[in-house]
This record gives sequence, C-alpha cells and structure tokens, in this order.
Amino acid sequence: MLARPARAVTTERTLIMNSPHTVAPATGTLGVLTVGLGAVATTLIAGVELAKRGQGLPIGSMTQMGTIRLGKRTDNRSPLVKDFVPLARLEDIVWGAWDVFPDDAYVAASRAGVLEQGKHLESISEALRDIRPMTAAFERKYARNLTGEHTKGDISKRDMLNAIRADINRFRDEKKVDRLVMIWCASTEIFIEPGPQHMTLESFNAAIDANDEMISPAMLYAYASILENVPFANGAPNLAVDTPALRQLATDMNVPISGKDFKTGQTLMKTVLAPMLKARQLGLAGWYSTNILGNRDGEVLDAPENFKTKEESKLGVLEDILEPSKNPDLYGNVFHKVSINYYPPRGDNKEGWDNIDIFGWLNYPMQIKVDFLCRDSILAAPLALDLVLYSDLAQRAGLGGIQEWLSFYYKSPQVAPGLYPEHDLFIQLTKLKNTLRWIMGEDQITHLGREYYDEG
Ligand SMILES: NC(=O)c1ccc[n+]([C@@H]2O[C@H](COP(=O)([O-])OP(=O)(O)OC[C@H]3O[C@@H](n4cnc5c(N)ncnc54)[C@H](O)[C@@H]3O)[C@@H](O)[C@H]2O)c1
Repeated sequence: MLARPARAVTTERTLIMNSPHTVAPATGTLGVLTVGLGAVATTLIAGVELAKRGQGLPIGSMTQMGTIRLGKRTDNRSPLVKDFVPLARLEDIVWGAWDVFPDDAYVAASRAGVLEQGKHLESISEALRDIRPMTAAFERKYARNLTGEHTKGDISKRDMLNAIRADINRFRDEKKVDRLVMIWCASTEIFIEPGPQHMTLESFNAAIDANDEMISPAMLYAYASILENVPFANGAPNLAVDTPALRQLATDMNVPISGKDFKTGQTLMKTVLAPMLKARQLGLAGWYSTNILGNRDGEVLDAPENFKTKEESKLGVLEDILEPSKNPDLYGNVFHKVSINYYPPRGDNKEGWDNIDIFGWLNYPMQIKVDFLCRDSILAAPLALDLVLYSDLAQRAGLGGIQEWLSFYYKSPQVAPGLYPEHDLFIQLTKLKNTLRWIMGEDQITHLGREYYDEG
C-alpha cells in the first residue's frame, strides 16, 4: 500500500479534506467492460493494443503522456502522471464488451472505419478477434435507429438487470481479473428527464419491477455496475448513473461514478473559448454551432428524441460558464443554437462549424469563426482510457460516489446536488491535477506564487 502522510485532523471539514488515504497498488489485471463495441470502444481497444506493442502513441491521453508539476517551479519536479500515481498498466487490461451487434472487435473496428485496416488493424487482428461482445440489454424504443438483434431479448427489466450482473460475474471468473471498470460507450439513448422513479432506491426498484419505461437499459447497466462494486463512467449524455437513487447508492457503497458525455470536438472548443470571452469581459450575442458527421452515432442522433439528449448536454455549457445573471450586460441575451446533421460521406470525420458573434468596447460587434475538421473517435478514445484508469485509481484510493475531478473529460459533468458544474477546461484541469496531488499527499498548487518574491 502506498500511504499518504497523515495530517492533523481538527474539524469535520478538515477530516474530509485531509483524512489520510492509502492507495492500494494496481497489482494484477484490470477488466475493462465497455457497453457498446462501436467506433469509440474499438478505437480505444485498438489504440491500447497498438501502444502496448510499441506500434502507436496514445496521443491525447493524460495518463499515458501527461506530466504533473510537483512542488515549487524552482524544484524542477514534473514526473509523468503514470510515474506519479499508481495506475493500472496497459499490459494489465483485459477487455470485455456488450453490443447489440454480434461482431467481434476486429469486424466492428473495420466497420467503424476509423482506423486504417492495413496500418492499424491487421497487426493486432488476433487480439481484436478475441473480443466478442456479450448480448446487449437493449430495447429498441431507446435507440430506434439501431437494428441489431444480438440482445438479451424481450425480457423484463428485472431480468435484464440480473443478466447484466451475471455477465459481470462470469467475465470476472472466466478472465480471472482482479478489478473491473465499466464505461458506457454505447449509443445515446432517448431523452429522459429524472422523475419520481429515479429519486430513491425504493422507487427505482419499484419502477424496475413495473417495467416502467423511465428505466432505460443504461440505468440498468449502471445499477448492475454499482451493485457489483464496479466503478462506472458514462461517455454519453443519457442519464445512466446520473440519478439521485444511483448517486446515493454509489456513495453508500463507495463505488466511483462519473459522467456524462465525452467532451471531444465542438464542446471542447466551447469550453476553451467561452472562458476566454468571460475572462476579458467580452460580450456574446450569439453562438451558432453546427456539425456534420456520418458514423453510426450520427445515425442514432438523427432521431429527434435521441438528439434531444445530446442537445441538452451541449446547450448547458455556455450558461454555466458565462453566468448571465451575474453579467447581464455581457451575456443576458445570448442566442445559442446547436445542430448535428447526419451526413454519411464523412463517416467518423466530423466537421464542426462555430459562428460566434461577440461584442467589445462600446458594443462594437466582432465575429469568430471556427471550423474544426476533427475525428470523433480519435478524440474520444484517449478520454475513455483516462476515465477507465482514473476510475480504477479512485476505487483503490477509497473514493466513492461522484468523481467531480473527472469533469475535465465530460460535457455535462456530474456534481453533487446544489453545485453548478465547472465547465472551464483549465479549472477542470487544475481540479484534476490537484486531486492527484491530494491523493498522493503532495502540496496543492494554487499559482499564488508569492514564495518566489517573499523569500530572502
Ligand atoms: N466520439 C465522440 O467524440 C463522442 C463524444 C461524446 C460522446 N460520444 C458518445 O459515445 C457513444 C459511442 O459513440 P460511437 O461513435 O462509438 O457510437 P457507435 O454507434 O459507433 O457505437 C455505439 C455502439 O453501442 C451499441 N449499443 C447501443 N445500445 C446498446 C446497449 N443498450 N447495450 C450494448 N450496446 C449498445 C451499438 O450497437 C453500437 O455498436 C455515443 O453515445 C456517443 O454519443 C462520442
């Protein structure tokens, strides 16, 4: 065990902030269960398999390539994150998945068309072919543009929950993994607003038994994950683990949870540019965002009920960053529009346009145009890897419930009730790195910097 240094504990508050943690070492194997074996999941798996073999660099992943400053700027201590915190090694990951299509990871990756066949799939084809998805807990009404039939069938929600739990346990036994993490990389489900069914565990269970349509498959995966003591991360905007009932259960059972919706293309840009406008007190009249993409994600999002889930996730960001009620002259009247257009010729290579109408000194208008020719899954895969490794770290550090420090990775970060989410990418980064320092008993870095001037 890596022990964090004990510190003086005086009040309940400092008890929470400073209680000495121990981080169990990352020995043995880590089973990574992806819900969905589509573009993101296969790009994640293939990338890790290539990186393990020295055939590719895990670019975009903080856990693999990032450094972290420790101590003073003059100390010159900036180790790699993976050398500072005890993370599972890529070599120790064992993959498992569920999908509504029976394709193994090789076929699914080929279909997704993200990675080049000859360059990036052939050399690891054996490893990819070994990953065959378990049948999905799926109901067509939650993603009606999906036609796959590799499912658990038309069974009750309670049976679905039990079947997912049985899958987890079978995987654990057959692959002999020491720890597990589950990550939702499946299609975005239709929009569901939290209702009385989601408020307490009792009402949640009653709704499961009543086959209430407010309980979606994603919620069942999340519930099964917590019940089996497996950390859960949610890469899509559907609720899944983001309900009061499951939040409370995760806290009570001390299982790390986080979500929602990988922050990759346009929203990543938004959470960099909007804080800049606010930092300089520049006004915003309107932000028009539109995308074209042609992968299966785009096809599912072409259904209005599914797009609504994504839209909610994308729209919330500006308001939280700009706080119009505190800055009515600058942000009191912002027109914000987001659209996604399914356009098959582009496949996974999304193009996102932003037209941003801003105003400055004495109300003079200006414009910013962004045209991001990105690759959806190339941006999402490293986030998924970091989330998996950090969720496992959190569990070994004894941190259960919402992992707000992982907001960095999400468009709609899950936060404790009563808190607004922190969207600014650089505040999120500071929060994440300070959490790593805190876990390891290192000093927080506040950037105050007086010590360089006050000394001697
Ligand atoms: N790529 C990005 O940049 C990005 C960013 C943010 C969020 N996301 C989200 O990540 C998710 C995955 O994206 P993708 O591009 O890999 O999509 P994809 O369509 O290629 O893969 C999703 C897979 O999930 C499967 N699936 C659907 N419902 C399921 C269920 N109930 N159980 C098991 N499998 C199920 C589908 O059959 C499909 O193979 C989507 O929800 C997407 O909105 C992606």
